[in-house]
Amino acid sequence: MVIGRGLTLESPVGAASGTFGYGFEAERMGNLAGLGAIFTKGTTIEPRPGNAPPRIAEVPAGMLNSIGLQNPGVEVVATEYAPRWRGWAAKVIVNVAGSTIEDYVRVCRRLDRVPEVAGIELNISCPNIAHGLDLGVDPRAAAACTRAVRAVTEKAVIVKLTPNVTDIAEIGRAVQDGGADAVSAVNTYLGMKWSRARGKPVLPGTGTAGLSGPAIKPLAMAAVARLVAALTIPVIGIGGIASTDDARDFLELGARAIQIGTANFYLPGLAASCAAELRQDGGAA
Ligand SMILES: Cc1cc2nc3c(=O)[nH]c(=O)nc-3n(C[C@H](O)[C@H](O)[C@H](O)COP(=O)(O)O)c2cc1C
Repeated sequence: MVIGRGLTLESPVGAASGTFGYGFEAERMGNLAGLGAIFTKGTTIEPRPGNAPPRIAEVPAGMLNSIGLQNPGVEVVATEYAPRWRGWAAKVIVNVAGSTIEDYVRVCRRLDRVPEVAGIELNISCPNIAHGLDLGVDPRAAAACTRAVRAVTEKAVIVKLTPNVTDIAEIGRAVQDGGADAVSAVNTYLGMKWSRARGKPVLPGTGTAGLSGPAIKPLAMAAVARLVAALTIPVIGIGGIASTDDARDFLELGARAIQIGTANFYLPGLAASCAAELRQDGGAA
């Protein structure tokens, strides 16, 4: 399916950011077979060590994470990782994060010169870094970031939306007006797990973290439905997909493609089998 700006995916199935790293382990295990795309870990201008552990916690039907954007920085991605993606059938779309619009622009300007990067997914919605928050919850800031990135790259720009807003369609319309080729939705929901034994949240810092997994699927579907109704650009559905039928639900709802996230951790072959089954459905690509 066509996402925009020359980006076409052979399958509507992708692996969500932060759950397949930069693809190398999955590729070695054969788990990228038949996928349309892998969305990399969030990549920033400088390397980031991420938050101190513990940074994940299990909850019923899902997990909380507060990874803190651990990544090697854009220069390593551009010069050391990208050449290893050459020849892969799955497109590699680099997820980009930052604290300021200028950060996003610098990362995207660098990635624009890397032929192996098939597209950019702007994570304007990471709930775990102090300053990034404002971009994804404010329509003007979200549009400004999209517009600034649009000006420095010819690659497809997919803007990944946070569900932690009052009206996700308003943010979607703003980034569409800012020049986004597609939106992906949703990122994680803000959540918290309490430790009664310790009298404080299980995860450090503020104790809040990103909730993902089957628990969020009904919420994500509601968000995707609002975006499909409000936008003319493609919507990529994400949230709690743990089976091919879950993927079919999002596609029937009107999502042009889907991403599988948390389920990759306990079903690493799911994305590949989902891609194969959707291909059998016919007309999915
Ligand atoms: C451990 C972990 C790390 C993640 N890292 C990122 C990230 O770096 N950038 C991003 O945009 N989303 C990130 N996400 C969010 C996922 O890509 C996805 O949007 C979210 O988990 C909902 O999908 P799911 O319920 O299928 O996991 C991360 C999720 C998890 C569980």
